[in-house]
Amino acid sequence: APSDPDLVARARAAKEKLGDKVFVLGHHYQRDEVIQFADVTGDSFKLARDAAARPQAEYIVFCGVHFMAESADILTSDEQKVVLPDLAAGCSMADMATAEQVAECWDVLTEAGVAEQVVPVSYMNSSADIKAFTGKHGGTICTSSNAKRALEWAFEQGEKVLFLPDQHLGRNTAVRDMGMSLDDCVVYNPHRPNGGLTAEELRAAKMILWRGHCSVHGRFSLDSVNDVRERIPGVNVLVHPECRHEVVAAADYVGSTEYIIKALEAAPAGSKWAIGTELNLVRRLANRFAPEGKEIVFLDKTVCFCSTMNRIDLPHLVWALESLAEGNLVNRIEVDKETEAFAKLALERMLALP
Ligand code: 13P
Ligand code: SF4
Repeated sequence: APSDPDLVARARAAKEKLGDKVFVLGHHYQRDEVIQFADVTGDSFKLARDAAARPQAEYIVFCGVHFMAESADILTSDEQKVVLPDLAAGCSMADMATAEQVAECWDVLTEAGVAEQVVPVSYMNSSADIKAFTGKHGGTICTSSNAKRALEWAFEQGEKVLFLPDQHLGRNTAVRDMGMSLDDCVVYNPHRPNGGLTAEELRAAKMILWRGHCSVHGRFSLDSVNDVRERIPGVNVLVHPECRHEVVAAADYVGSTEYIIKALEAAPAGSKWAIGTELNLVRRLANRFAPEGKEIVFLDKTVCFCSTMNRIDLPHLVWALESLAEGNLVNRIEVDKETEAFAKLALERMLALP
């Protein structure tokens, strides 16, 4: 639906009033009505880097989800304020690993005598607490665009990796990019005693995968891939690495949201694509590339928005911008100092990856 013209005018006016004081970041999964006001759009890696590269902006308005805003706060100076237009924009995957659960897991690894060999690698999609745990134990953060390099780095530091919280990104990267086998991976279930694993299993494993997942990408199945190949002969299947392993194994290409966009930019006219990621992005790409004769469809037959990403809508953005323009700091995301120090360590290790 087209954006409400009154709200568009209000957002524009508030942004103009704020001038260089505000910088608006938009993740690729954001709605069109919000994305039109982003100064920069990107995947979670690019947005983390871009947030850190704007020291002159007093306010960073983050159109994305909570863990992204936290990471921006960690990477920016204390004077800069990060604002999330709707505080309820969380991430169900990030919520699947709490500080208590991860501390308990470390105890289990210690009991089994493997903790010393373990390097934690945490996906960006995690709370600041989990990032701090990661930094404290010598690990790094990764995103879907650098998971392979993060694992390579981690295996130079130790013999095993504890990968948090997305089991699929961990497994897909280990098997698809690092040549490991499915047997090298075990799944730690925080809801079972000892993670549901024996000490022997922990000792034998190379990858200890946290039992978390994205419910949006979890909707894609092998059937979705087979169906689309039957429906559209010659179709290229391109999916996000948060998809289940069998989906990634059956796909032609796998990559982050930024990778998906680049792949479609480079695709020849007349090519056909089925994309397995969030629907706001797929629709935007389908509309953008249709005039160039590229046919782009959503991988599944059912709709698949990320409901928390969608919480940031134009009314929330207008409210945040107008409040800031009136000198009212609303919805600030601020990570406490101690957490920030360790989380920053882990994030900086990621930014320093080759
Ligand atoms: P990207 O790093 O590919 O932008 O993915 C972020 C995300 O939340 C995917 O669900
Ligand atoms: Fe989290 Fe999945 Fe939404 Fe990404 S798409 S923000 S992983 S729930």
